[in-house]
Amino acid sequence: MSTIEVAPTVSLVDPLIGEEEIAAVERVMRTGQLAQGPEVAAFESEFADVTGITHAVAMNSGTAALHAGLAALGIGPGDDVLTSPFTFAAGATPILMQGARPRLADIDPRTFNLEPESALAAAGSRVRAAILVDLFGLPFASAGVDTLRARGIAVFEDAAQAIGASRAGERAGTLADAAAFSFYATKNVTTGEGGMFVTGDAKLAEAARRFRHHGQGAQYEYLTLGYNYRMTDLAAAIGRVQMTRLNEITRKRRANAAFYDAELASIPGLTPPFVPPGSMHVYHQYSILIDPEHTANGAGRDAVRAALTAAGIASGIYYPKPLHLHPLFAPLGYGPGDFPVAERVSRQILALPIHPRLERMQLERVVHALRAASGAKRVG
Ligand SMILES: Cc1ncc(COP(=O)(O)O)c(C=O)c1O
Repeated sequence: MSTIEVAPTVSLVDPLIGEEEIAAVERVMRTGQLAQGPEVAAFESEFADVTGITHAVAMNSGTAALHAGLAALGIGPGDDVLTSPFTFAAGATPILMQGARPRLADIDPRTFNLEPESALAAAGSRVRAAILVDLFGLPFASAGVDTLRARGIAVFEDAAQAIGASRAGERAGTLADAAAFSFYATKNVTTGEGGMFVTGDAKLAEAARRFRHHGQGAQYEYLTLGYNYRMTDLAAAIGRVQMTRLNEITRKRRANAAFYDAELASIPGLTPPFVPPGSMHVYHQYSILIDPEHTANGAGRDAVRAALTAAGIASGIYYPKPLHLHPLFAPLGYGPGDFPVAERVSRQILALPIHPRLERMQLERVVHALRAASGAKRVG
């Protein structure tokens, strides 16, 4: 009788959760204080210390943090907000939630970010803010930020994927007037669901705090429109432990990326993530481009992905379609061909497993499968 050997799968996501997180949840459960309370306050102050930020306001998602930030910045009907066509929906939907209009500009072909200079070129007279994303964990560039500000455009950093990243020694979350982080289950630091609005501006922080809690000043005194965007003490307790693991998580992701970078250099048609000098990428995603015109066998992204799947290796496509091609954003009036870089990158991009639990043998399996799928010869 023959046996079929099934190779263990290489997963795309495997958060670093340990006994300490479990104990933290149990500790909070036993206090009976489950909703927002002392754990949230402690998480906010510890988060601010670690990230070097003045004010941190915990939310129940990164989307809520983005929404609260736009509201705090006073964005509303009649305003335009610049954002990237190549990002998660929440890079644009909070603009719609505020009754404002997303204004898109194409991304940089190497960083995949909407860089401030391109944003500037697209800015019309109604633009009051720009959401600049640190996509996949790489901070957006600095050039052009001051000019945006000089034109009265508030700069809001979407650092959802970039905790621990930096540019020229400045940390993600401090690169703009305000920023939003996400602690969604797949993020480098997770609370299951969660987010953090951060800013150096006390007034913005105060407005975001009110927005999170039904717009209340004193209890049951409703000053402005608000929502229930509060984080639970359970989530905050997980987050506090997760923050103690941030350096380890970042180190492992970066080591995995360094391994791929070195190996991919000898595989034609596959381009590893670009990191500008002075930037520190934290690889929330390790997304490569696969160009069928340059792979040895003409394989494109979808063929390579299918081969990885067949070899038991998970991969991801972030994002399969730019925002302007989705029905939700059709009323903005954009169409195919309007943002050619974002459209090409959407066809060529593939995220490889990069999480901190990966072992050397698994990384080698991924590289081996990529070589085979793209027809590359083994070198050296
Ligand atoms: C770039 C980006 N912005 C915003 C968000 C929204 O965060 P959340 O899922 O916590 O609402 C995410 C997370 O999914 C994201 O990746």
